[in-house]
Amino acid sequence: MALVNLQEILKDAREKKYAVGAFDVSNYEMIRAVIEVAEEEKSPVILMGLKLDLEGIGIEYLMSMMKLAAEGASVPVCIHLDHATEYDLIKRAIDHGFTSVMYDGSILSLEENIINTKRVCELAHKYGVNVEAELGHVGDGITGNSETASDEIVKEKLTLPEEMARFINETEVDALAVSIGTAHGVYVSEPKLDFKRLEILNKISTVPLVLHGGSGTPDNDIRKSIELGISKINIYSEVLNAYYSELKRALNASTNMSLWPSVVNKEPVENMKKVIRSKIRLFGSNNRAMNKDLKDSHQKDIKKGDF
Ligand code: CO
Ligand code: CO
Repeated sequence: MALVNLQEILKDAREKKYAVGAFDVSNYEMIRAVIEVAEEEKSPVILMGLKLDLEGIGIEYLMSMMKLAAEGASVPVCIHLDHATEYDLIKRAIDHGFTSVMYDGSILSLEENIINTKRVCELAHKYGVNVEAELGHVGDGITGNSETASDEIVKEKLTLPEEMARFINETEVDALAVSIGTAHGVYVSEPKLDFKRLEILNKISTVPLVLHGGSGTPDNDIRKSIELGISKINIYSEVLNAYYSELKRALNASTNMSLWPSVVNKEPVENMKKVIRSKIRLFGSNNRAMNKDLKDSHQKDIKKGDF
């Protein structure tokens, strides 16, 4: 059993200045790719679920696979709900065994964000589930550099150090996503990170800090962010890109579309694994899962089932 909560997985990262990769997983192929690489790299890892994939019966299918993967893994795995804005979704996630949830009230006023985050923490903590919140707002899709008009909007949403201590104290949140100049999705121009701000935020914060919009952020910026206190980095777009670009190539190479999924998915999965591995190494979380009582139970299971 290697299913852990967010606090357990981020404590060591914050102390030793590395970051744990948090990968959104939308299907079986993605879950397997993340877990296989984490085991091969002896790295703790965070599997994340997104609202769209968890709707209706979706949560049952996806959670069954994530739980199987986490409980059988030879490394610590946290199952985290990414970007929830509704209390009901958070409740469902907790009911289904998520060990961590993100409540995202970043577009609300500070007061509303505090009230809602506090309410989520009160519920989650009863079940030993951790909560990540967002202070400031990480934008979606595209971001520009300082000269462009749209950049003014991005800047206005950067996390304010003067709000931080109050936010953490009043909500009792366990991890905090900060806005320092990254954006979700694919960048049209290189993001400009506010490292001075991150340094100040990290000094104030009593909880691990999280970086969203990790995909496409240059490696050196990632390294510097970790040095300055980031302990969890979210990745989705780059993994999707690795999967679909290779799948597209494989499909284009064949005139016959009656392809066996397990066969046609082979190279796309390998391509995802390449990206996941490079992130895990960049974040410095490889070879950190040395806990002796985490046995290689996947191996054991295979032997048990052998005829
Ligand atoms: Co259910
Ligand atoms: Co995000």
